[in-house]
Amino acid sequence: MSNTIAVIKGDGIGPEIMDATLRVLDALGCNLDYEFVEAGLVAFEQHGTLIPAASLETIARHRVALKGPLTTPIGGGFSSINVQLRRHFDLYANLRPAISFPGTRSRYDNVDILTVRENTEGAYLSEGQSLSEDGQTALASIRTTRKGSERIIRYAFELARSKGRKKVTAVHKANIIKTSSGLFLDVAREVAQEYPEIEFEEMIVDNACMQLVMNPHQFDVIVTTNLFGDIISDLCAGLVGGLGLAPGANIGSDAAIFEAVHGSAPDIAGKNVANPCALLLAAADMLDYLDMAEKASRIRIAIRAVLESSRDRVTPDMGGSGTTDSFADALVAYCRG
Ligand code: NAI
Ligand code: MG
Repeated sequence: MSNTIAVIKGDGIGPEIMDATLRVLDALGCNLDYEFVEAGLVAFEQHGTLIPAASLETIARHRVALKGPLTTPIGGGFSSINVQLRRHFDLYANLRPAISFPGTRSRYDNVDILTVRENTEGAYLSEGQSLSEDGQTALASIRTTRKGSERIIRYAFELARSKGRKKVTAVHKANIIKTSSGLFLDVAREVAQEYPEIEFEEMIVDNACMQLVMNPHQFDVIVTTNLFGDIISDLCAGLVGGLGLAPGANIGSDAAIFEAVHGSAPDIAGKNVANPCALLLAAADMLDYLDMAEKASRIRIAIRAVLESSRDRVTPDMGGSGTTDSFADALVAYCRG
């Protein structure tokens, strides 16, 4: 049986890293069919909208999408396509793994931290923002709901259970933001009781940042609200060598979108030097989601092997002297071999 997934090639370096990624998926014999959908600048030029309704319908039909980075035009009041997709499909869980790979500019070896970020509420609201008429006072709101907190915290514990992970750390600021962060923490304490085999820990966000930098190995799964998750997950990416290796998954009840965390990198687009690893790792997470765990792990093993043994094939951002194509060729050869 073949699965069809929706594919957004993306802007800037998107098409280059997507081609590399699809070549590796095909070399592994994943038996996936791709329906390419338009979004981003391409869609804007053709249809006057960054994400046409037909693209949303295709994603809804296949329920799984692999997405290249999209450029959000500056000015003109465009809201980020990523935020639009999250809202449209209620993609409430943002999973951001940070895993060490050999030969990268990372400060630590053997880091393996999974940040589970609430993706729909918290401080990322379009309503409840205002600037006083004299421009001297700005107000923003944070919304935390019991339902929203419970589903993300439960998601984190279920994931920990299914992946054999040992600990979940709830990151919060309940000591200061007593209402919203307090509610999140209360719900975390309640849900944790249903998972006695998983260690539960709570940590204030500022301390968590310091602890992550000093001793990242104490962390396993982190669950947190939208804004803290945004910041913490970038910090974790920095611990393992930066955005070139950072995948992200946006998961809801009816759809899931897998992407690289980095943007469309217009400064290097079309130069055949973009690193495809983050999108490849996102594709591996997608295969896990599609119950193809063995193929998923083969992608991660192939990346590790090529980084270890073929520096001349790896892209310059990872210290190599190769190109996007040579990196993809090496990965394809490893997967076929
Ligand atoms: P960026 O992540 O595109 O680039 C930042 C720096 O990292 C650049 O120097 C770039 O060359 C480098 N870089 C990024 N990905 C790389 C890769 N795979 N290989 C090698 N080097 C890489 O961030 P920037 O410049 O702030 O944003 C550019 C555009 O991307 C903007 O329009 C922004 O809105 C969009 N963006 C889209 C995202 C998405 O679709 N998920 C996420 C972040 C930004
Ligand atoms: Mg961010």
